Amino acid sequence: MGSTLFVTGATGFIGAALVERAVAEGSHVRALTRSAAAAARLRAGGAEPVLGDLAAPGAWTRAAASAGAVIHLAQPETFGARISQARAERYAALRLRMDRNLLEALGPDGVGRLVYVAGTSYYGPQGPPARDEDATPEPRGWGRHLAAAVDLLPAHAARGLPIVEAYPGWVYGPGSWFAEYFLRPLARGWRILAPRAPVRTVVPVHVEDAAAAVLHLATHGTPGRRYFVVDDRPSPWNELLALAAHALGRPLKLLPLPPFLYGLLVGPIIHESQGYDTVLTNARLRATGFTPRFPTIDQGVPDVVARWQSARRAAEGPAR
Ligand SMILES: NC(=O)c1ccc[n+]([C@@H]2O[C@H](COP(=O)([O-])OP(=O)(O)OC[C@H]3O[C@@H](n4cnc5c(N)ncnc54)[C@H](OP(=O)(O)O)[C@@H]3O)[C@@H](O)[C@H]2O)c1
Repeated sequence: MGSTLFVTGATGFIGAALVERAVAEGSHVRALTRSAAAAARLRAGGAEPVLGDLAAPGAWTRAAASAGAVIHLAQPETFGARISQARAERYAALRLRMDRNLLEALGPDGVGRLVYVAGTSYYGPQGPPARDEDATPEPRGWGRHLAAAVDLLPAHAARGLPIVEAYPGWVYGPGSWFAEYFLRPLARGWRILAPRAPVRTVVPVHVEDAAAAVLHLATHGTPGRRYFVVDDRPSPWNELLALAAHALGRPLKLLPLPPFLYGLLVGPIIHESQGYDTVLTNARLRATGFTPRFPTIDQGVPDVVARWQSARRAAEGPAR
């Protein structure tokens, strides 16, 4: 690619894969983090670390404003604990503040493109048949807590910011929610909590493809447009689980719970996320020339399980 990219969320689930790819492609990557230890790792990986906190304006704003393109992936903490309503509301308020500080630091004559990463939860229930980005959003789950931030984008576009909006689906990989809720419990032989309710269709995407697509949109996305970053084929959510169990060589043992109890245990956000069908097409993304490496979960989940197992083996060290 060749130009300077400023990446927020560079140490996150999607961001780490994106930075690695961008560096390998020859881009100069300015990677934002709040942590000195993460900054050292980013430098070792070939990026230029920028220390800063989006929650407050600071020196980082100059590194952002002078970049050729900005990819905004940073978000407040999500997974890693029960996601209560209060936690989700704190997320929404902090996300708004982080977005405002970044977007207000960027002038219309500066960046070539700003790729703003939201999520398909902003669209909520859609289809079948498959819907495209012009569908009317009905935010659900995390989407309710993204909506205020997404709704601010037109005002920034109106002052000339070239914003490309990316909406990844359920991003599965060897970290984040997929490792926390599926891979770790399955590998331990635990029963997986499940709502006793109709199994809904979701739009998965492999984390490597999500990262590659977002990076691709920084050069090939049209400002003012939205793009779904999802697999070729929507899937019932429990197929992700079944494929993961199969790849781990573990039996799939579900613990179906009444919706009320399930919601109490996993929190309202996760519960609502599994309560509706989302059937979306990636035709607009593909029309930009993007080709996913893992077009469906049949190819993607076994790859993720192999990566997760090899990372675990590496963390455990050589067998004695
Ligand atoms: N994961 C999914 O399944 C999924 C699905 C759909 C959409 N998305 C969207 O994709 C984007 C990236 O998600 P992700 O899961 O990759 O993120 P993540 O793993 O939760 O990582 C969050 C990132 O945000 C950074 N960050 C948090 N607070 C910050 C602050 N105050 N200042 C600067 N940086 C801050 C963290 O950096 P440091 O801690 O190093 O500072 C970290 O790199 C988000 O917008 C999310 O809504 C994700």
